[in-house]
Amino acid sequence: MKENLIIRHAHIVTPKGTSALKGEQMSQLESISNGVIEITDGIITYVGTEADYKQAESKKDFQVLDVKGKCVLPGFVDSHTHFIFGGERSEEFSWRLKGESYMSIMNKGGGIMNTVRATRTCSFEDLKNKSKIFLDRMTEMGVTTVEGKSGYGLDKDTELLQLQVMHELNEDPDVFVDIITTFLGAHALPVEYAGKTQEYIEFMNKEVLPVVKEKNLAEFVDVFCEKGVFSIEESRQILSAAKALGFKLKLHADEIVSLGGAELAAELGAFSADHLLHASDQGIKDMADKNVVATLLPLTAFALKEEFARGREMIDSGCAVALATDLNPGSCFSGSIPLTIALSCIYMKLSIEETITALTLNGAAAIDRADKIGSIEKGKAGDLIVLMSDDYYVLPYYIGMNTVQTTIKGGKIIP
Ligand code: NIG
Ligand code: FE
Repeated sequence: MKENLIIRHAHIVTPKGTSALKGEQMSQLESISNGVIEITDGIITYVGTEADYKQAESKKDFQVLDVKGKCVLPGFVDSHTHFIFGGERSEEFSWRLKGESYMSIMNKGGGIMNTVRATRTCSFEDLKNKSKIFLDRMTEMGVTTVEGKSGYGLDKDTELLQLQVMHELNEDPDVFVDIITTFLGAHALPVEYAGKTQEYIEFMNKEVLPVVKEKNLAEFVDVFCEKGVFSIEESRQILSAAKALGFKLKLHADEIVSLGGAELAAELGAFSADHLLHASDQGIKDMADKNVVATLLPLTAFALKEEFARGREMIDSGCAVALATDLNPGSCFSGSIPLTIALSCIYMKLSIEETITALTLNGAAAIDRADKIGSIEKGKAGDLIVLMSDDYYVLPYYIGMNTVQTTIKGGKIIP
């Protein structure tokens, strides 16, 4: 997708920079009225006003898109999802509606293990075809880059299969969203290893992680660090082994209880700590000090009927906050960017500007892509969205409804 495109008469709104924006920087968006964006071979080569743009007439091989004053933002980056899985868990969801908790279902052998059983029976094609539907929906909602995790195999072959499917989808010309892969072998303890957590960790660290590295199947390693899943010490063991092999780190941290996951992410230099519903004051301070992107997943809090993460306090404490959907078959079967935006603004009290930064440049930083995507600036990828309105206030106002009119990936207008 190496396209030449000139977008004219745009109201351009974007955060700026090549690293995560922290604290009050998050609300500082650039706004250009009557703007032009020129994209050459998929990369932005001009951003500015119509008045300053002299080259339009001389550019012969460029498609021109006149957006007639509509608001143009960077494409959204969904930096935390689990979109590759078999089966579904609607029955478990009905139990949760009657009051059963997410962890009690998991402890009974349901939850993640339920999806693991279903995923292990899937073929490469099954997983690929099922995931494509999610990826198409993401594109409609303006997502131009998504992170996807393994973690529903919990054995060598199925974990590798999930990662391979993501790689193939990334090369598929019918898939427009870029996919960044994360290995999440420590998502739960599989039944075959019941009571043998240490053996499972050894297996992951010695037999699976090196193969993932050798085959270059994942860029990040993540762990579900949670009471009753992987403890702080166990998570440290896995993440340290991953770091030694050259992986970048992420962490499911402080989702159900306050365990010290945010502090661990800071200690190990993780790119992000995710969920953080119960992050401690110290954890928030550590993330701000060590530049860990605090990735908040409000759809999950909503679906689990939990308190939302303290997003406002995190930004006020100097953190860089990102937002992502956490699309997965259990705790949060939703990849809705519009609802994420509404929950961010209404319940977590992020401003609309902060919410845009959290879903673009800071999401890019959470997957180590802030130098390439996440803002509309010369040298970055031509990944953009055109809203249906001339301003961005529609984003939280249309609650759960899509306001993206056109998604542009690498300068290509997605049909
Ligand atoms: O981010 N918490 C761990 N992992 C997912 C849920 C996975 C599942 O329930 O299938 C999450 O919430
Ligand atoms: Fe998750």
